[in-house]
Amino acid sequence: MIQKLFILATVALTAVHAHPGSHAIANAAAAPQTIKLKEIYPPAFAIPTAKPEWLELIKDVNITKAPVYKNINGAGPQPEVAGQDPYCDWTFTGCFGKEDLYECPKGQWALTYDDGPSEFSPKLYDYLDQVNVKATFFMVGGQVVQFPDYALRAFKSGHELAMHTWSHNYMTTLTNEQIVAELKWNELVIKEVTGVAPRYFRPPYGDIDNRVRDVAAALGFAPIIWNHDTNDWAYASDPKAFKESWIDGNVTKWANAAKTATVGGISLEHDLYTQTVDAAIRVLPILQKEYELVPAGKCNNVQVYKGKTTVPVANATSSAAVVKATPSAVASSATAPVAIAPTVEAPDAAAAADSAASSAAVAANVVGSGASFTSASAVGLGVTVIAAMALV
Ligand SMILES: *[C@@H]1O[C@H](CO)[C@@H](O)[C@H](O)[C@H]1NC(C)=O
Ligand SMILES: *[C@@H]1O[C@H](CO)[C@@H](O)[C@H](O)[C@H]1NC(C)=O
Ligand SMILES: *[C@@H]1O[C@H](CO)[C@@H](O)[C@H](O)[C@H]1NC(C)=O
Ligand SMILES: [Zn+2]
Repeated sequence: MIQKLFILATVALTAVHAHPGSHAIANAAAAPQTIKLKEIYPPAFAIPTAKPEWLELIKDVNITKAPVYKNINGAGPQPEVAGQDPYCDWTFTGCFGKEDLYECPKGQWALTYDDGPSEFSPKLYDYLDQVNVKATFFMVGGQVVQFPDYALRAFKSGHELAMHTWSHNYMTTLTNEQIVAELKWNELVIKEVTGVAPRYFRPPYGDIDNRVRDVAAALGFAPIIWNHDTNDWAYASDPKAFKESWIDGNVTKWANAAKTATVGGISLEHDLYTQTVDAAIRVLPILQKEYELVPAGKCNNVQVYKGKTTVPVANATSSAAVVKATPSAVASSATAPVAIAPTVEAPDAAAAADSAASSAAVAANVVGSGASFTSASAVGLGVTVIAAMALV
């Protein structure tokens, strides 16, 4: 059993934006995975190194010269000058870039689930199949390596698959080269498992600015943020401090506002915890009464995969069924087998990631009181969250 380290902290949040990127509560009842990956992937939850050929993609591109911010003591990136946001930084001001997607048209709603696939994902997939609702899943690279069968199942069910980076770090704290690695490794594993290369990503914690947008655009990727945040992860992290009924309460409020709202929604949930999966199943019918539920790419009328107008259905029940990359659909270099690091999901790597992600999650949400926050996603004002400490 993996020792999991959690940070005990009480944080008064001025706004809740973020969510953790690792398992707070595990105890996997995961089915054995049958897909055998050929590529050798970097360790889960560690910032990876880019293949040299990927770096060519940003060589002759103008990239905004925003600072590489520091995540000091897990407090998340902070503006250089309080109250100023020269690079359209969502963390600082809720700023959206021109190409960012973050809402649906009036009457439509996109359910989006981050941080999976996990051992709890199949329960959500089953439910979505049962009610015949398609959603968008933002998958973390290392989680796809751990649960490739689940990623493929979500894809074959007709859900949209998108990226949530490799290591689940704040993207504005990464160098341009690290951003390339985070996205391209994430793309590659989804591509190896499903046969399609995603075009969309969600920055962990919503942390994005124009530098990150420029690097991503040079690789052919665009961001999807959200305009409604359930803060479901906070309930999973500490059900004593964060009331489960707040999730339902907020969703009900959003549903009740459907008639008067000028736009539709993209909501943020997580399929990383048993509690958030249960909440997701509970609240879906509330939204479905008032909105047409469609995935985020579809409601925005965009192609969510590269180089394809129709999505092939992969056959996969065994390693033999892993869909191989179609050379045209992804940068040709992406399929070259280059060994970076042989460790995948080693217990110590997972524990370290848990520790890092938990501490980040605790403080990630604190937006400086001086920041002018304009995003419609601020549903969690004034919440106190206690991140539980546990040895699992
Ligand atoms: C980059 O910016 C410079 C200065 O604004 C401009 O001259 C150049 O054409 C740009 N290059 C590209 C590839 O957009
Ligand atoms: C997928 O499965 C179907 C039916 O089982 C079969 O007809 C088809 O040839 C398979 N496709 C591939 C690419 O293996
Ligand atoms: C919505 O969630 C926030 C915490 O994110 C909570 O403070 C608030 O009471 C909730 N609203 C409802 C109507 O439950
Ligand atoms: Zn996340």
